[in-house]
Amino acid sequence: MRQKVIAGNWKMNMHPGEAIEFITNLTPLVKDTKNEIILCVPYIDLFYSILTAQGTNIKIGAQNMHYEESGAYTGEISGKMLKAINVEYVIIGHSERRKYFNETDEIVNKKVKSAFKYGLKPIVCVGETLNQREEGRAEEVIKKQVDDVLEGLTNEQVGSLVIAYEPIWAIGTGKAATSEDANNGAKQIRDEISKTYGQETASRVIILYGGSVNETNAKELFEMSDIDGGLVGKASLNPEEFSKITNYDK
Ligand code: 13P
Repeated sequence: MRQKVIAGNWKMNMHPGEAIEFITNLTPLVKDTKNEIILCVPYIDLFYSILTAQGTNIKIGAQNMHYEESGAYTGEISGKMLKAINVEYVIIGHSERRKYFNETDEIVNKKVKSAFKYGLKPIVCVGETLNQREEGRAEEVIKKQVDDVLEGLTNEQVGSLVIAYEPIWAIGTGKAATSEDANNGAKQIRDEISKTYGQETASRVIILYGGSVNETNAKELFEMSDIDGGLVGKASLNPEEFSKITNYDK
């Protein structure tokens, strides 16, 4: 049985004071779950969040990183820096980074390799746009993204991945994919990994669904055969609501 993982992606929300308050309030609400709980917070919140979450079952992640270790990249943060303050997870290749910051599959691939190099656990995002879906190209797009972002990884690295299937049309729209569509996307990702890395490796990959997950739809989505949890945006900004999602199986 794969571990269920529920990750919040705060995006550009919450300052350090709010992060400390959030984690303090979330802690008692989620202490009894066996599900892995991750909060991916803005860089400026990381250190405070890690200190506040110490001794709890809440893991802290970043939302991005640079692939180089150090250098003249004004405004950037490296995997080595994240590791130095005990960050555990890092989201890589979110569609908002692809759209607004021109991240390509090649850059995403470099970041994933760098995350592994510094001992971080990448949460790699893939997913098609509405146009691509309406043109019947969703499968082709997902296949290419999976092949390109995983290029050159070892079997062991792939087997330890968390991948988030986030159809772009479902992000921030309040219109989640149906559980069947979400599961088909997750299954396609697993099948694609299986072709290159074998079924055993593919069966270990944790695949999350992301896009308008909330306390009402979480259970149905997370109980699908190939979905191992969620990457949650808006509904991760309120501790009570987020705890209902992480406790979906209670
Ligand atoms: P929403 O849950 O707000 O749709 O965001 C999803 C997302 O982009 C998580 O990374």
